[in-house]
Amino acid sequence: MRILAIETSCDETAIAFIEATGEFGKDFSFSILGNSVLSQVAEHEKYGGVFPNVAKREHGRNLTPVLAEVFRQAGLLDTPSNVPEKIIGELKGHLEREPDLYTYLSSFLRSVGKPDIDAIAVTVGPGLEPALWVGINFARALASVWNIPVVPVNHMEGHIVLSMLLGQSSDGAHPSSPSRFPLISLLISGGHTEIVLSENWMEYRLLGQTRDDAVGEAFDKVARLLGLRYPGGPEISRLAEQARVSGVRASVTLPRPMIDSDNYDFSFSGLKTAVRREVEAHQPLSDDFRTALALEFENAAADVLVAKLMRAIDEYNVETVLVGGGVSANTHIRRTLSAKLATTACRLLIPPSELATDNALMIALAGYFHAAKREYAALDSLTAQGNLRLER
Ligand code: KG4
Ligand code: ZN
Repeated sequence: MRILAIETSCDETAIAFIEATGEFGKDFSFSILGNSVLSQVAEHEKYGGVFPNVAKREHGRNLTPVLAEVFRQAGLLDTPSNVPEKIIGELKGHLEREPDLYTYLSSFLRSVGKPDIDAIAVTVGPGLEPALWVGINFARALASVWNIPVVPVNHMEGHIVLSMLLGQSSDGAHPSSPSRFPLISLLISGGHTEIVLSENWMEYRLLGQTRDDAVGEAFDKVARLLGLRYPGGPEISRLAEQARVSGVRASVTLPRPMIDSDNYDFSFSGLKTAVRREVEAHQPLSDDFRTALALEFENAAADVLVAKLMRAIDEYNVETVLVGGGVSANTHIRRTLSAKLATTACRLLIPPSELATDNALMIALAGYFHAAKREYAALDSLTAQGNLRLER
């Protein structure tokens, strides 16, 4: 099956095109025909965070150029257009709320023909609803013009499936045998911090989640307090690594919120507040103190994540642990998890750093397994679900 996938849940405009066949754990295989991500970081940096309406506007402008890039990679730009003008005209109605999208897409469809493609996978949640809608409307428009079905995909399932299929073991090697269950996913991103148990492939039970800020959000907010650039995760990570390499010791102690609580929930907003207090008490902030705070914040966040994960592993006799979401690009967290898991019989799967943050390949892969079961949605029924859950 050939799947075109669209991801616009946050501030990355991403499209991927894959060809996949077979069943998970048996004969599954796939190849990437095209894959492109356009980050809006430069747009959002000015505001120090993601603004939903800016994200929406940028997705509207970027989706068609990103699609053209994916078609270029797949060698599809030379197929002459075969879409009747009448059908292109009808798109105006579908894309009423996305005038930019209509302008770009209609001219693309006048020049390039329908590819050999079986289904479109699109992220319907969780995420920023105005942003999700642009991707959904784009998917709907393409599906009606090309007359192909759409499969709705949960963004978090995308992170999980990607780590499951492309995750590397602690030693960097990709495991040759399929993952064993029970499996636990530690999902850590800008919008989520969750521990999810799977007894079987594509079944999920939420064990715990953050009660306030997501861990990535805490990284971003703390970075802002420290005067670092957006997105803050990579910046904090860079400072903290520098500190470790040069042997700087954390000269400040921050709390490890909920580390001993008898559940799998998290709380990161108190940690952020503790950083704010330290920043206020040490004005003007010296470079050394900024570095010490970055180091201690990263250590504190990692300690809590690892402690909760290790407890869940014990309690549920877990065979496989996977990490997903943007924060799983964090070097310290990757290293700490690898070291901890090496002391257990459990296999750890970590996404390659470049695929840890949002992309459409993860949506294409998750979408394939739903498309293979013909879990298509009527075009009119597709809706953005900002708080979509993994449990069905
Ligand atoms: O999964 P993702 O790309 O988007 C969401 O679905 O939220 O995650 C983005 C988050 C941001 O908060 C960003 O600061 C964080 O992932 N992030 C990192 C690192 N790289 C990205 N956090 C810590 N260390 C990193 N190296
Ligand atoms: Zn994500």
